[in-house]
Amino acid sequence: MFWSASAFAKSFMPVQGSTFASGVDDLYKFLLGASLISCVLVIGGMVYFAFKYRRKTNTDKTAYIAHSAILEFLWSFIPFLIFMGSFVWGWIVYHDLRTAPKDAFEVHVIGQKWNWDFQYKSGRKTSGEVYVPVGKPVRFIMSSRDVIHSFYIPAFRTKQDVVPGRYTALWFEADKVGEFQVFCAEYCGTSHSQMLAKIHVLPQEKFDEWLQNDPYKGLSNLDIGQTIFAQKCTACHNATTENKVGPGLQGVFGKNREFEGAASLVADENYLRESILNPAAKVVKGFPNGMTPFQGQLSEQELLGLIEYIKSLQ
Ligand code: CUA
Repeated sequence: MFWSASAFAKSFMPVQGSTFASGVDDLYKFLLGASLISCVLVIGGMVYFAFKYRRKTNTDKTAYIAHSAILEFLWSFIPFLIFMGSFVWGWIVYHDLRTAPKDAFEVHVIGQKWNWDFQYKSGRKTSGEVYVPVGKPVRFIMSSRDVIHSFYIPAFRTKQDVVPGRYTALWFEADKVGEFQVFCAEYCGTSHSQMLAKIHVLPQEKFDEWLQNDPYKGLSNLDIGQTIFAQKCTACHNATTENKVGPGLQGVFGKNREFEGAASLVADENYLRESILNPAAKVVKGFPNGMTPFQGQLSEQELLGLIEYIKSLQ
């Protein structure tokens, strides 16, 4: 039935993706319900009495009312019980949220303007995406490279500030396989709202497989760049000065570049990054605007590697 408390809550709460999500929701529903009932009692009582005891004639006089010990005791003691109950309940839920089991699987999280990096103990690194096993406690050990961010996973009902110069931690046990959204919940500058990540919850075997299948295990950024270049770039670009469909890339870094309809500039890392992710932004004179944008196709690590590799072609 829609009007049952849980069906009502489900209609506007995010998916419950972790073991403590339902506990947080229950407390939230209780607080919401208690507030609603109090609101109706207080506002309703006020309106009712205002009508019932309104002044009806000019000679109406307010009767002398002495205090009532029993009433005063009750309206203090009942709310006291409700508040203490909420406190103890909240404390139990909070304690659960803050106390990671000793055997939790640990992942390092680094926040920076404006993305999230993840590092596994095996050496695997990802950016904007993190993979975790289902049904197993996972602990994120987090820090920031610049300002305060906040790691927020609504579906898991947990959130923790990420602070430069120290570690903070957050844990959860995902109880459903799936994909969940991460937000930055602390205003951190221009692209704060774009500071997103996805949590992929996988069955244990799939997760183990993913963790071991690191395509870049033991490779330097330069090696990664060289691999990507060979896979994705050589159809149109040479690693020499000789042009193909696109310009030859040897010696490009640090050189002045001339564009169709844009001011010339000296090629730096930001220019390379833009030209890989959004090639149409600056088209080099004498070449067609024909390159596929790589936005969303490369991880930060791959992009960094590719830029390192292009820089190395001197
Ligand atoms: Cu990082 Cu907002």
